[in-house]
Amino acid sequence: MAEKQSTQVVKHGDVTQRVGGEVIRARGVDVEKLIKMLIANAAAEFASTYYYYTILRMHLAGHEDYKEICEDARLEDRAHWELIVPRIYELGGELPNDLKAFHDQAGCQAAKLPDPPTAVNILTLLLESERCAIRSWIAICDMTFGKDPRTYDLASRILNEEIEHEAWFIELLAHERDGKSIPSGHFRRGEPGHAPYSKNASFYNP
Ligand SMILES: [Fe+2]
Ligand SMILES: [Fe+2]
Repeated sequence: MAEKQSTQVVKHGDVTQRVGGEVIRARGVDVEKLIKMLIANAAAEFASTYYYYTILRMHLAGHEDYKEICEDARLEDRAHWELIVPRIYELGGELPNDLKAFHDQAGCQAAKLPDPPTAVNILTLLLESERCAIRSWIAICDMTFGKDPRTYDLASRILNEEIEHEAWFIELLAHERDGKSIPSGHFRRGEPGHAPYSKNASFYNP
């Protein structure tokens, strides 16, 4: 039998530690820091989908085409929240028990309804919130690349959709504010909030 490597720390039958953590620590991941970053990202997704995005989208009344795109982005943020929360627990972390504390740890600024709540002001906020999400998720990708394939896979799926969302809002804002056409190049989702990457669903292909 091969000799045990010194990096093996989880003992036989021990339920207080995880080999899933041991192996990524051995590859150089700061697991505590990663958990913190994932909680910050989860808080941003949670606040975005269930609260801020919902309110902002409602105030696009009359711009039904913009609302449709917003609905995809909103529901895909919900998919991101649901995709990443289990990973926090697998790594030995947990969500803060206090909702306000959780909200305050969010890695992106809360997108409050702008004054006045014009389509241009709302689309600008939404664009900037997608940009914060891109920066936050690529930081997770950088930290886990080649070391923690599971977190990397989840974060890169989310990043794929955040990059699409940025392109959608560049297209809408350029049209609404500047009368310019800057196509996002995207095809419509098969159903609202399809989330082709984060739900591992195929692209629209009727
Ligand atoms: Fe998201
Ligand atoms: Fe997004």
